[in-house]
Amino acid sequence: MKRVPLGEAVARKFPESVVFIVAPDEEGDPNVMPAGWSMFTSNDPLMIAVSVGFPRYTHGLLEAAEEYVVAFPSAAQKADVVFCGSNSGADVDKIGESGLSLADPAVVSTPILEDAAACFECRSGPSLETGDHTIFAGEVVAAHVSETYDERLKNLGREWGDGPERFKTLSELLGSTLSPQS
Ligand SMILES: Cc1cc2nc3c(=O)[nH]c(=O)nc-3n(C[C@H](O)[C@H](O)[C@H](O)COP(=O)(O)O)c2cc1C
Repeated sequence: MKRVPLGEAVARKFPESVVFIVAPDEEGDPNVMPAGWSMFTSNDPLMIAVSVGFPRYTHGLLEAAEEYVVAFPSAAQKADVVFCGSNSGADVDKIGESGLSLADPAVVSTPILEDAAACFECRSGPSLETGDHTIFAGEVVAAHVSETYDERLKNLGREWGDGPERFKTLSELLGSTLSPQS
């Protein structure tokens, strides 16, 4: 083992799975942001947490929201991950300008994402400031999956499992110069 700059060791985390956070603004209109930093935190009740940087538009939305949606993007939504991760809802109507389609939720008011591999409707739970990000944990109150779990709709994160591409970052895999800003 050799000591390295922190970022060099962190790069060994990739590939990582990615989620979409769909959070409502004060009018109830949804904004979408991808997050690589997420995890389930409880089985009963089922809870999922995301870590969101202070400057993100989504950060303010989640502080105010009583409910929101977390989704696993499908392979069909790769370009939407790039678009929503490189534009801010403070400046852009990301739903309007991306290829993302909305679908009706079952319990919360925030729409779910058509063609996602899975969507989790969440009620806002505890949050914790950690350094320059806040961890927001939500209780899952309903879940949805795409009706056809084919190649196109499989979980985007799973596309980049073990194999020769293992240590490439998402931005390299997408062939873009975008750096995940988490
Ligand atoms: C693949 C990917 C993963 C990302 N993961 C995170 C993350 O976990 N937390 C975070 O705060 N930002 C993350 N970002 C950056 C935000 O998605 C990006 O800053 C986005 O434009 C914020 O949108 P908003 O301003 O509409 O909230 C990620 C971006 C990409 C492309």
